[in-house]
Amino acid sequence: MNIIVVKNYEELSEQGASIIAREVKTNPNAVLGLATGSTPLGTYRKLVCMHKEEGLDFSSITTFNLDEYYGLAPNHEQSYAYFMRRNLFNHVNIQLKNTYIPNGIAADILEECKRYDELIEEKGGIDLQLLGIGANGHIGFNEPSEELLIGTHLVDLAENTIKANSRFFHSVEEVPKQAVTMGIGSIMKAKKILLLACGENKAKIISKIIDGKCSTKVPASILQIHPQVTIVIDKEINDQL
Ligand code: GLP
Repeated sequence: MNIIVVKNYEELSEQGASIIAREVKTNPNAVLGLATGSTPLGTYRKLVCMHKEEGLDFSSITTFNLDEYYGLAPNHEQSYAYFMRRNLFNHVNIQLKNTYIPNGIAADILEECKRYDELIEEKGGIDLQLLGIGANGHIGFNEPSEELLIGTHLVDLAENTIKANSRFFHSVEEVPKQAVTMGIGSIMKAKKILLLACGENKAKIISKIIDGKCSTKVPASILQIHPQVTIVIDKEINDQL
């Protein structure tokens, strides 16, 4: 694992954007795996600037998002489809038809999961997967559990995830209890992985995912066996490792 320590969120976002921009420039047909949550917001802002100011070209880029809330339509303000359009897709020259996000309101959700995995394979797999991390160690919505699932699946969200994500909703009751998430297999099959983490509340979990032990109770700990992982953390986390 390559660990990069930066001063603050601003630098974290710069690092994140420059690693993604490098991929986009060297491989204009790259398949990017994208994440939501508050951590990558600054990275997306920088990418938008790089597009507007330096002409960073997304016209042949394909993207697959990690996850979507089950039951939220793409136009729901808290859906990840809406998040991606608002924070990235609407501001760069990506073709919306090349942006994939699990459909949280598919009539047949099992079929939707299967279709999503097939699509990732069809497009040649993910070249660079961007990840945030839940305070409980989840990546995408792969929650701590007895076993980790390989493919895209419907998952019951952990209590602490529902509580953590309630900050984006009017109340905790409004947070969907389930989500569709890419499995650990699709994430681990990505050629390169970039994980961003910021703030002291992530220090404990970061120390657990770099400690040389791997457990399904800490899903992100599996990243230790991937050959090309970069983790960018800020000084607040690093000071506590
Ligand atoms: C959500 C997403 C994850 C994300 C996590 C952390 O639960 N499904 O992909 O990594 O939030 O979010 P934040 O970056 O806001 O801490």
